[in-house]
Amino acid sequence: MAGRVKGKVALVSGGASGLGAESGRRLAREGARVMLTDVAHDRGQAVADEILAEGGEAAFLPHDVTDEAQWIETIQATVARFGRLDVLVNSAGIGGGEPLLEATLEGWRRVTGINLDGTFLGVRHAAPAMIAGGGGSIINLSSILGKVGFPGAAAYCASKGGVALLTKAAALELAATGVRVNSVHPGFIETPMVAEALHASENGNEMRDMLISRHALGRLGAPREIADAIVFLASDESSFMTGAELVIDGGYTAA
Ligand SMILES: NC(=O)c1ccc[n+]([C@@H]2O[C@H](COP(=O)([O-])OP(=O)(O)OC[C@H]3O[C@@H](n4cnc5c(N)ncnc54)[C@H](O)[C@@H]3O)[C@@H](O)[C@H]2O)c1
Repeated sequence: MAGRVKGKVALVSGGASGLGAESGRRLAREGARVMLTDVAHDRGQAVADEILAEGGEAAFLPHDVTDEAQWIETIQATVARFGRLDVLVNSAGIGGGEPLLEATLEGWRRVTGINLDGTFLGVRHAAPAMIAGGGGSIINLSSILGKVGFPGAAAYCASKGGVALLTKAAALELAATGVRVNSVHPGFIETPMVAEALHASENGNEMRDMLISRHALGRLGAPREIADAIVFLASDESSFMTGAELVIDGGYTAA
């Protein structure tokens, strides 16, 4: 398969759904061999099967990003299966939130444990495998909510702000090794995460209209609009980018 990431091996956490699944599909269409990982086994395997049916190369591994031993095993298994590791997309994450005055330490740790600790573990354990192969590209899913606040989402905002600065520190530390590290900051995108949050809200329809109105382009984003940017960051087209924040938000943070 010809393509912009031909010959590269990509590991995509959170690959069973939303932005991870779409990134996996598009990386495979552009020639990468893709290891999808997720805690959602059936959905993850289904995405891998879909890629295989399209003629791409993909596999799925069960993987909880909060578990350090599983990160080590997953990276070893990816290298054993595909021979190398060039790209890591840290897409596993959870949304949700609690009003600050009702928030619990347990809830805080759940969100930051998956979104921030999980990303740290990915960077920590993928980088050596990439260095062994001469370099690579790590793409961390932050958010516009890693740049601006949102009521009721303190833990989420803190976790995504942490991902942005983890990205910059890692980019500086790894620059000499050939590993690039960048963060992506989507606005609100039509994925199961956003659909579930709106569904769980008492006034989901009004909430949706409010969110749409905050994007200058007057709509929420499509997963493809983020996955295309992830392919760019995974490819050699972005070879002079590291430590960057790629904001893709329909103008949300321009105001
Ligand atoms: N959708 C948006 O509007 C939006 C905006 C900005 C940033 N993001 C970020 O993009 C990433 C992907 O979001 P999405 O919208 O595709 O969400 P999603 O819910 O559709 O997919 C997230 C995936 O992560 C998996 N996951 C959750 N906990 C996990 C764990 N402990 N270990 C492994 N996998 C786990 C889930 O099973 C799910 O398949 C997240 O980090 C999210 O915070 C999303």
